[in-house]
Amino acid sequence: MTVKIVRNARIYTSEGNSAAAGNDQGEIRFFPKGAMVIRGGKIEAVGPEEEILVSANTADADEEIDCGGRCVIPGFVDPHTHMCFARRREEEFSLRLAGTPYLEILQKGGGILSSVRSVREASDDELFEHTLSLALSALSLGSTTIEMKSGYGLDTESELRMLSVIRRVGRESPLDVVPTFMGAHAVPELYRGNGDGFVDLIVEEMLPAVERQGIARFCDVFCEEGVFSVPQTERILVEASSRGLGLKVHADEVHDTGGAALAARMCAVSAEHLLAASDEGINAMAKSGTTAILLPATAYSLRKPYARARAMIEQGVPVALATDCNPGSSFTESMPFVFGLAVMAMGLTVDEALTAATRNSACAVGMGTVCGTLEPGKQADFLVLDGETPAILAYHAGVPAVEEVFKKGERVW
Ligand code: NIG
Ligand code: FE
Repeated sequence: MTVKIVRNARIYTSEGNSAAAGNDQGEIRFFPKGAMVIRGGKIEAVGPEEEILVSANTADADEEIDCGGRCVIPGFVDPHTHMCFARRREEEFSLRLAGTPYLEILQKGGGILSSVRSVREASDDELFEHTLSLALSALSLGSTTIEMKSGYGLDTESELRMLSVIRRVGRESPLDVVPTFMGAHAVPELYRGNGDGFVDLIVEEMLPAVERQGIARFCDVFCEEGVFSVPQTERILVEASSRGLGLKVHADEVHDTGGAALAARMCAVSAEHLLAASDEGINAMAKSGTTAILLPATAYSLRKPYARARAMIEQGVPVALATDCNPGSSFTESMPFVFGLAVMAMGLTVDEALTAATRNSACAVGMGTVCGTLEPGKQADFLVLDGETPAILAYHAGVPAVEEVFKKGERVW
């Protein structure tokens, strides 16, 4: 097995296999002159350089990586994306800038439904190439694990095709890719005015097929006014859970419909978006331990008020961060951009944001024992930054601070 020594690194990492909440969210371990021993792609030891280099058997090391005093953090885990799509929607961005609301575009057959048309028209290879190129761009920006949702197929065959493209991106790139089935992303044209009929299709045909193919880890539903109601969402989630899928909810993104409370009641792993979440919703999430996946780039792109991250942390809700990368409401694959917004616009401390973008986001996609922190036994997924502290990600605004990306101990960027 290959042995690598990382040294001369200012190492910052959260510690733990489960999501951090409250004060724990801001607890970061710091080794000013740190080192790591990596064996077979996994971290064997991490700590102060003088201790690590003495106790480890460094003589048999195959490679030494001198970080030159730069900052090292865990690779970002992006736990919420719609990165599998075939075509951008620039024309729609201009419409939104001119004042047309996001949901109005969807109701007129654009938005998600426009992406559905282009995904259905694209060949498997076209869809794969487009998704892969976005995923590799995200990797170059520091994402080493990415969740990807289906939801631009909206019929059984097209949803399964999306999930198999998503699986292929995981196989043919250095990334860990976590697939989420999101057949309930919008009501397709064929079912306009018959949302319940479409929910029947999801429950009776799509979820059984997804289970048979073992092709998704989570199920997500867009619970929103005019999209899927709370009872419809619940029906889908109950079925998904009985078929072995973990649960996620797009909750209270545009309107507060009680999605956060539903996610808590269903013991979902996460409720995501939450721009309009109520106090009751936040409270319920704190009690159930449901993670809030916050997507500040979506608030930025929709020109909406940011989610109330401080209230969530103060109430004890574990907070994670994600890009929401999609061609409509948030066209960015950059976790550094999201990190900057979290600190500058949502008021997270740098330490809280670091936990949110690594440990908590890993836990929110079921990867908390595999990655998200720099601790013995975890994958050696880490980033070398052009700076002394993770604050560089917010401080050097709009300029790439991620200089090197390592996945399972290999330099992949
Ligand atoms: O998370 N809200 C629903 N889904 C995405 C947007 C998808 C799209 O516009 O294509 C979101 O914002
Ligand atoms: Fe989303």
